[in-house]
Amino acid sequence: MKERVREWKEFLLPYQQAVDELKVKFKAIRKEYRETSKYSPIEFVTGRVKKISSIIEKCERRNIDIDDIQEVMEDIAGIRIMCQFKDDIYNVVDLIHKRSGKDLEVLYEKDYIANPKESGYKSYHIVIKYSVQTAFGEENILAELQIRTLAMNFWATIEHSLNYKYKKDIPADVKSKLVNAAKAVTILDDEVCGIRDEIINAQQIFELKSNVVLDITKNLKRLEKYCEPEKIKKYYEEFDDVWESEDEEKFKEFLVKIKSEIPLYNMSNEGDEN
Ligand code: GTP
Ligand code: MG
Repeated sequence: MKERVREWKEFLLPYQQAVDELKVKFKAIRKEYRETSKYSPIEFVTGRVKKISSIIEKCERRNIDIDDIQEVMEDIAGIRIMCQFKDDIYNVVDLIHKRSGKDLEVLYEKDYIANPKESGYKSYHIVIKYSVQTAFGEENILAELQIRTLAMNFWATIEHSLNYKYKKDIPADVKSKLVNAAKAVTILDDEVCGIRDEIINAQQIFELKSNVVLDITKNLKRLEKYCEPEKIKKYYEEFDDVWESEDEEKFKEFLVKIKSEIPLYNMSNEGDEN
């Protein structure tokens, strides 16, 4: 038994590496968008390696020979990419297509958004081939990417828990409520997608402002090292006025002003983190 567990763990090692690498790559896409002040179609990314017990259960359910799992089971490595809006999903799908033939290979896809499952399940699935370089050589493995909105993810998470509770035999009344909830998810996703640009704009303004505020507080803290307490008190009072004004321009002007007060600021180049 112990030996078997060790074998499984060894077999799953490249899958864990693939999940780790893919997570880094999709998170990097988000970071690159955000650091260039662009809207990111990716909101967050999760990943997991399928549990040994689930792999065995799936082999039994689907009549898969355990020796074939590397070639046949496409979701041992699983990545989930969550988007705010429905339209973002197709942008992410495009990004993945553009990577095909480079660091991954798209094998096939299932659009459960255009064609939802009977349960009400919605997501865009892409099965890829991904190669990992291990200490023992190259391993080509399959991975399943699930791309969905936050609302679709909320629904799928709930439905998954209910399936777990009822051992896949959800009572009819609960099932029909889930179907209704899935319809509500579709309405929610359609409605918010209709005001997508407006929401993105509002989020960007908010982010810009919180970055400026963060920069101001950092520089005020730094100023405390150089200035008389009296002067610092004045700065804080001025900051209160700027805060009350809610005027973005005033925030920026104030930031420029306090930055210019820091001796050797330009030489040390501190404070450019933002
Ligand atoms: P599996 O045997 O579960 O892999 O299904 P499949 O081979 O028919 O593939 P499919 O693309 O339909 O589903 C793969 C994965 O999508 C599942 O492992 C789930 O993570 C997710 N999924 C599919 N259908 C549902 C559903 O009705 N509810 C939830 N919560 N998730 C689903
Ligand atoms: Mg599957």
